Amino acid sequence: MRALLLLVVLCLLPLTFCDQSTNADWKPFFKIDYDNDQFLLDGKPYRYIAGSVHYFRIPPEYWLDRLAKTAAAGLNAIEFYVPWNFHEIYQGKYTFTGQANVTQFMDIAKELGLNILLRLGPYVCGEWENGGLPWWLLHTPDIRMRTSDPRFLEAVRSWYSVLLPKVVPYLRKNGGPVIMVQVENEYGSFCGCDQNYTIWIRDLFRSYFGQDTLLYTTDGGSEGYLKCGFVPEVYPTVDFGAGDSKAINSSFEAQRKFSAHGPLVNSEFYPGWLVLWGQNGGFNLPSIQEIVKSSKYMYDLGASFNYYMFHGGTNFGYWNGAETQAPVITSYDYSAPLTEAGDPTPKYYAIRDWIGSLSDWPYKPSTVPPATKKRAYGQVTVQKLGTILDLADVISTKCTASEFPLTFEQMNHPFGFVLYRTKLPSSGTNLTASGLKDHGFVMVNYEYQGTMYAAFGNRTNLSLNITAKQGATLSILVENRGRQTYETINDMKGLTRNVTLDGVVLTDWQQCGVNLLNIFKHMKRPAYRPPRRATVKAAASFLPTIYVGKFSADTQEDTFFNPTGWGKGQYLLNKFNVGRYWPSIGPQITLYTPKSLLQSKNTIVMLELEHMGDCEKSNPNRCLVRFDDAPIINVTYTETRPRLQPEPRGPICPPIH
Ligand SMILES: *[C@@H]1O[C@H](CO)[C@@H](O)[C@H](O)[C@H]1NC(C)=O
Ligand SMILES: *[C@@H]1O[C@H](CO)[C@@H](O)[C@H](O)[C@H]1NC(C)=O
Ligand SMILES: *[C@@H]1O[C@H](CO)[C@@H](O)[C@H](O)[C@H]1NC(C)=O
Ligand SMILES: *[C@@H]1O[C@H](CO)[C@@H](O)[C@H](O)[C@H]1NC(C)=O
Ligand SMILES: *[C@@H]1O[C@H](CO)[C@@H](O)[C@H](O)[C@H]1NC(C)=O
Ligand SMILES: *[C@@H]1O[C@H](CO)[C@@H](O)[C@H](O)[C@H]1NC(C)=O
Ligand SMILES: *[C@@H]1O[C@H](CO)[C@@H](O)[C@H](O)[C@H]1NC(C)=O
Ligand SMILES: *[C@@H]1O[C@H](CO)[C@@H](O)[C@H](O)[C@H]1NC(C)=O
Ligand SMILES: *[C@@H]1O[C@H](CO)[C@@H](O)[C@H](O)[C@H]1NC(C)=O
Repeated sequence: MRALLLLVVLCLLPLTFCDQSTNADWKPFFKIDYDNDQFLLDGKPYRYIAGSVHYFRIPPEYWLDRLAKTAAAGLNAIEFYVPWNFHEIYQGKYTFTGQANVTQFMDIAKELGLNILLRLGPYVCGEWENGGLPWWLLHTPDIRMRTSDPRFLEAVRSWYSVLLPKVVPYLRKNGGPVIMVQVENEYGSFCGCDQNYTIWIRDLFRSYFGQDTLLYTTDGGSEGYLKCGFVPEVYPTVDFGAGDSKAINSSFEAQRKFSAHGPLVNSEFYPGWLVLWGQNGGFNLPSIQEIVKSSKYMYDLGASFNYYMFHGGTNFGYWNGAETQAPVITSYDYSAPLTEAGDPTPKYYAIRDWIGSLSDWPYKPSTVPPATKKRAYGQVTVQKLGTILDLADVISTKCTASEFPLTFEQMNHPFGFVLYRTKLPSSGTNLTASGLKDHGFVMVNYEYQGTMYAAFGNRTNLSLNITAKQGATLSILVENRGRQTYETINDMKGLTRNVTLDGVVLTDWQQCGVNLLNIFKHMKRPAYRPPRRATVKAAASFLPTIYVGKFSADTQEDTFFNPTGWGKGQYLLNKFNVGRYWPSIGPQITLYTPKSLLQSKNTIVMLELEHMGDCEKSNPNRCLVRFDDAPIINVTYTETRPRLQPEPRGPICPPIH
């Protein structure tokens, strides 16, 4: 306190003490002032009201828009993860271009005056495929991720040798926006409880960033979580949602037990929550009043806090993660203050108004950039191109023959779908695939037999009564619905155990990965003709089928793909894998389609797995989808479908096989 007074006095002198540019030794810095329970930014007391915004869930064309809206609410910082698996899809092949250009995202934040709380993992959870860890780690089937298993550490070390040098120029001490770096993520929620591992991460960060970069951890707001989450010499913070003063005090008291002094920090304050397929949207969310009231209470305590999420974005392609009960939906709207499409909501304005009312907050809200335009392009006809069996040669990749079925990981095919085929050695009825992950669409010759699935809600269906004669071809199209996030199990995908027919193990498999992007190439071939009724083979039952459609857009605006009436599948537009749709289970119906994906002439590809949508009576191979100007992501079904409850969250100790 005395030092601060002295500085104030010196600053009144018309000399150079406070003019940083004239002092050659002066360097920017960020640290904790333990005596006064606060942060110091370049020597001045500092606190943040931050918001989580994930570059990997936003088209890069919209990074500036989303961050400008974040800053316009009066926030002074953002928080985001760097998901390892987004940058190293195949081992040793790194991507930092386009949507993976994380340094460009940091440059934009800096220009807008937003500081950065950087969460480098390596595990990030984030409801992201495999919690952000690369699938190829599972090439070592018994690897113990998030522990000091040397096989895991070696992979982490290689990744960080590429990533961390890119971060160094962005650290505050080097004049950049990154003020704090998070070690691991909610490690206290993971049963591994291996402090040697978290200390190893800490020391690796220090070796690149120096001792003078503030490292922190984030854990649930109770002592039980902090017990294994705390890392010596790393600043502990907590995360929790809206609550009364007693609940908030109790979470901060947990933080105080592990650091008697320093600023109070809630690193994830939840204005919304994630949603799973099969779950009604928006369950038990705090009201806007409760969110503002808790914000105000934390502010009055002098705390710094971060809205998780401030803008959620989209799980494009196959990037959604899964929880034990079900996968996370494609939208990561999260009921956040800015919608999935980046539009301000009443929640946004309530937070902005509250921040604007703070007399001692220097970051005044500014004019909110306008919401992006939306356009309803209306109905688009999609035509049946062929079933998955008709098009097997076109879409196949990485085909491998083996005696027993291989997993996605063994095939080196990370995401999406694999088509497994074998000839049946005998007739039979009871087909069992006890190791199926996650959904299997079963066909015998050209007849659909049924769907098998691993855990969905509290249900599984891993046996089917099929009609099969000796010599018939059994085909199982297996969907990887996204690897688990929060639980950190070694979530292998595909047929992970043998398949039996009436107890007999089936052998001599041919398995091929599915690459739906090949369809775009296929349609460009000179020999390609749009499908005609007569050329499309009729089947007695619906098989997983590929549909294609074209539409023009004289102006390109954001829009929402609406597959109402269809079952479940994958939607691609102009060679971009937009994501999974599943209106038969909900609650998400429409898929956000940002204008950056549109062109004047557009091509849609759909892989539909369950049943056709709205089709012409005279020609059932011609069907409709729609493009709307508003999202529907919260339908409630009243029929008997799996209705899921939010997952209980707490330390889970999964067995590793
Ligand atoms: C990232 O973006 C910046 C700014 O547009 C660009 O200069 C840089 O080349 C990009 N990096 C990569 C790896 O593409
Ligand atoms: C942590 O490291 C110490 C010292 O190397 C070792 O004795 C201990 O067994 C390790 N603990 C774990 C959980 O690996
Ligand atoms: C919460 O903590 C504050 C600050 O320490 C204190 O003034 C207040 O009485 C506490 N409230 C409850 C309900 O414990
Ligand atoms: C399992 O799937 C079969 C065929 O699709 C269906 O008849 C059966 O009702 C399903 N069982 C459960 C428990 O969902
Ligand atoms: C699954 O959950 C539903 C709804 O909670 C319940 O009615 C049903 O009995 C459960 N089924 C099983 C097999 O546990
Ligand atoms: C399987 O289907 C056959 C033919 O429809 C039927 O006779 C048989 O009872 C079924 N078996 C089981 C176990 O459901
Ligand atoms: C599949 O069955 C064969 C023969 O019974 C056995 O050797 C093999 O271990 C089984 N594979 C798996 C993954 O269970
Ligand atoms: C089908 O086979 C599996 C594995 O052999 C067995 O567990 C299951 O009970 C069988 N189902 C029926 C309906 O016979
Ligand atoms: C779904 O969202 C829309 C738009 O935000 C809202 O008007 C509607 O009330 C919501 N419906 C349910 C069932 O929550």
